[in-house]
Formats: sequence, structure tokens, C-alpha cells
Amino acid sequence: MEVVFFAIVLGGVVGVVFRETFGRARALRWLAIASAIAASVCFLGATRVLSAADDAKPAAAPTDEPTKKEFVKPDNWPQGHPLPIVESNCATCHLTAGRELTAAVVNFTRSVHDLDEMSCADCHGGNTEDDASAHEGEFDFIGTKKSAHIETCSGCHDEEAEVLAGGPHGWDFSKRINTEFPMCFDCHGNHDIGRPPADFELALWCADCHDQPDKTFGNLASVVDQNDRLWSVLRKVQQKNIASIEHLVPQEFREEVDGLRAATMRVIHRSKEISADEAHKLNRRAIALRTALEMWLQSNP
Ligand code: HEC
Ligand code: HEC
Ligand code: HEC
Ligand code: HEC
Ligand code: HEC
Repeated sequence: MEVVFFAIVLGGVVGVVFRETFGRARALRWLAIASAIAASVCFLGATRVLSAADDAKPAAAPTDEPTKKEFVKPDNWPQGHPLPIVESNCATCHLTAGRELTAAVVNFTRSVHDLDEMSCADCHGGNTEDDASAHEGEFDFIGTKKSAHIETCSGCHDEEAEVLAGGPHGWDFSKRINTEFPMCFDCHGNHDIGRPPADFELALWCADCHDQPDKTFGNLASVVDQNDRLWSVLRKVQQKNIASIEHLVPQEFREEVDGLRAATMRVIHRSKEISADEAHKLNRRAIALRTALEMWLQSNP
């Protein structure tokens, strides 16, 4: 209010001074120019004041809701790699949680369990409805506790777990972790199950605990060896189909891949030397499948 009054008085004084100095006609012209300049200055000043007021305002209206993270690829996501199929709060937060917390999501993506539309909580437990209590034990969160995980794996894969328990690798991990015995994730990994990393060779793991697998259980060791060779080609086939949300292996090979893996599981989980004949049959299948997959790769460059 005072500003308007002051402007009127100032305008009057300026008008009188201009008329005395320039005469009536020229005074009006000078007044027009002066008021144009004054208006511009006022406009600039006003916008600065208003935008400063904007800055001073809090960025968002305060609410009780924490800011929700978005399910989008972070900048450091591997190129061409998809996101998990299920958009859980676990995966969403871990996407940007850093280092191994995020590596878990990268590796889990397009594992057999991701393709089956499972999520982190299917193995780890936890609350998928609320971020703040996601890791709470009251929602059955088991973190990284190995014995609890072996129980979870075995709960969904009871037949396979039983075959393993019946052999020399069987050990009651619920009583005590015993690193002299191989656990599910030693041979299968944890997040990338069904899509193992390029440098994984099962034979190296056997050799870690067994002095000379070739001599002590040579036939079984030859099956492990052919299984590794098959996987070295399967991995390339999988990588070509990494965008698929159904299966990473082309339809025409699926039945044989599944059948052969089930047969291989039975002998490896049992961990007992097999006859040369049984090994030969399995190895012939593995070689035939590998050859067919190599041809598929050649015709799908
Ligand atoms: C709001 C972000 C956020 C959410 C939601 C979240 N996590 Fe985490 N998670 C973290 C951070 C940060 C850590 C590392 C620090 C810690 O242990 O609290 C972590 C650690 C973990 C660990 C390793 C724990 C350990 O003992 O080393 C596991 C496993 C895990 N989270 C699984 C899950 C699962 C399963 C869910 C969904 C039910 C989930 N997280 C939801 C941020 C999150
Ligand atoms: C198939 C079961 C399974 C699924 C599904 C799974 N995890 Fe895990 N995760 C494990 C096991 C088992 C361990 C630890 C035991 C070990 O290998 O030492 C683990 C360990 C971790 C760790 C500790 C650091 C590390 O990498 O070892 C984090 C963090 C984690 N998981 C987060 C996640 C998140 C996030 C998801 C979902 C994107 C997820 N996990 C899905 C089985 C699973
Ligand atoms: C909630 C149930 C569930 C849990 C927990 C679970 N799995 Fe699975 N798993 C599945 C399903 C479903 C499949 C897909 C079966 C199929 O396609 O034939 C599967 C497939 C597999 C396969 C076959 C891989 C392939 O490419 O076909 C292996 C190996 C496996 N799981 C190991 C594990 C291990 C090790 C754990 C624990 C760390 C585990 N699973 C935890 C449900 C589960
Ligand atoms: C973490 C260590 C560990 C790993 C890895 C491991 N084993 Fe074993 N294995 C053992 C132990 C312990 C026994 C039991 C030895 C005993 O009963 O005296 C055993 C026993 C066996 C036996 C029967 C006993 C024998 O020596 O003939 C066979 C066969 C066998 N393992 C094969 C394998 C194969 C194949 C692999 C790889 C797929 C493998 N093991 C990986 C620890 C391991
Ligand atoms: C000593 C190594 C070893 C251990 C320990 C082991 N597995 Fe396996 N498992 C194998 C091999 C080898 C195969 C067959 C090859 C493949 O999966 O491609 C297999 C296959 C499987 C399959 C797929 C069967 C199918 O029909 O496709 C499942 C499921 C499985 N294992 C679950 C488990 C679970 C659960 C545990 C722990 C209780 C476990 N494994 C421990 C080596 C192991």
C-alpha cells in the first residue's frame, strides 16, 4: 500500500521536474521512456523475488509417505540386461542399494526362479507390503542364514533333496553347518540358478574336496565333465534369448534339456560311482544335445 502511495508522489514530482526542464510535449515523451524502464526494472525485480520465494518453499508438501522408489534400470545396470519379471519392493529397493545388494538383482534376473515369476521373498521371506518392515523376522525374513535357506530350497525341491540326503553328501544342516559337505548353493549358486556365470565349472568344485575324481570315481567324473561342456554352450544359447520372459532355451530343445538334467541330477545327487555303461549313455545324450545347440547357434548368429 505504502509503495503505491510513494509511487504516485514520486511520479508527480518527476512530472513537475520534467515539465520545468523540457517543456510539456518533450516531458510527456521522456516520461513514457522513463516509465517503460521503470516497468522493466519492476518486472525483473518481481520475478526474482517470486522465484526466490519458490526456492524457499520445501521441495514437496510434507507427508507421512516415504518417497517411493521407481522400478527402472539404474545407470550402472548391465547393458541389454532386463529387469526381474516381478516388481517386488525387495527388487525395487535393491536395484539402487549398491554393490552386492544390487548384484543379487542382476544375477536373479532370468534365473529359473525369475522365469517362474518367483521373487526375493520366496527364498528370503520378509514383508513385501511394507519397506520399513521388509527385513523383520516376524515376517519370516531369514536373511543369509544358510541352514534356513537349505530348508527353504528343500521345501520346494523335496524329491531332489531326498536323493541328496540319501547319498554320501547328506548332512543334517539344521543341526550345524559343516563346510566339508557341499550345500545346494555350492553347486547351484543362489541367485543365478539355472543361468550360471561363464566361469562356473562344477568339476572344479568336486576337485576342491576330492583329490583325484578321475581315479576315485572316473565314470561319475566324466558325467560332470560333459555336463560342464553342455553348460558352456547352453549359456550362449540362453544369452541370445535373455529378453524372453518364458524360457531361455528354444522350444525344440526344452524336453531333452529337462530330461537330461533330471537324469544327471539323479546320479550327481546320489554321488555314487556309476557303471561305464550308464555314464556312456548319459554322455552320449549330452554330446548330441550340445552338437544340436551349437548348430542352432551357428544358424542364429
Ligand atoms: C527400502 C529398501 C529395501 C527394501 C524394501 C528391501 N531391502 Fe533388503 N537390504 C536393503 C539394504 C540397504 C540392505 C543392507 C543393510 C541391511 O542389512 O539393512 C539390505 C540387505 C538385505 C539382505 C542381506 C542381509 C544380510 O544379513 O546380509 C537380504 C538377504 C535382503 N536385503 C533381502 C531383501 C528382501 C527379501 C526384501 C523384500 C522382502 C528386501 N530385502 C527389501 C534395502 C532394502
Ligand atoms: C532361490 C533362492 C533365492 C532367491 C530367489 C533370492 N535369493 Fe538372495 N540369497 C539366497 C541365498 C541362499 C543367499 C546366501 C547364502 C549363500 O549363498 O551364502 C542369498 C544371499 C543374498 C544377499 C547377501 C549378499 C549375497 O549376494 O550373497 C542379498 C543382498 C540377497 N540375497 C538379496 C536378494 C534379492 C534382492 C533377491 C531378489 C532379487 C534375492 N536375494 C533372491 C537365495 C535366494
Ligand atoms: C518357492 C519354491 C522354490 C524355492 C524356495 C526354490 N525353488 Fe528352485 N525351483 C522352483 C521352481 C518352480 C522351479 C522351476 C521348475 C521347472 O521349471 O521345472 C525351480 C527350479 C530349480 C532348479 C532347476 C533349474 C533349471 O534351470 O531348471 C534348480 C537347480 C533349483 N530350482 C534349485 C533351487 C535351490 C538351490 C533353491 C534354494 C537356494 C531353490 N531352488 C529354491 C521353486 C523353488
Ligand atoms: C564341500 C566338499 C565336497 C564337494 C564340493 C564335493 N564332495 Fe563329494 N564328498 C564329500 C564328502 C565329505 C564325502 C563323504 C566322504 C566319506 O563318506 O568319507 C563325499 C563323498 C563323495 C562320493 C562317495 C565317496 C567316494 O569318495 O567315492 C562321491 C562319488 C562324491 N563325493 C562325488 C562328488 C562329486 C561328483 C562332486 C562334484 C559334483 C562332489 N563329490 C563334490 C565332500 C564334497
Ligand atoms: C554336489 C553338487 C550338488 C549339490 C550339493 C546339490 N545339487 Fe542339485 N544338481 C546337481 C547337478 C549336477 C544337477 C543336474 C545338472 C543341472 O542342474 O543342470 C542338479 C539338479 C538339480 C535340480 C534340477 C532337477 C531337474 O529335474 O531338472 C534341482 C531342483 C536341484 N538339483 C536341487 C538341489 C537342492 C535343493 C539341493 C540342496 C538340498 C541340491 N540340488 C544340491 C548338483 C548338486
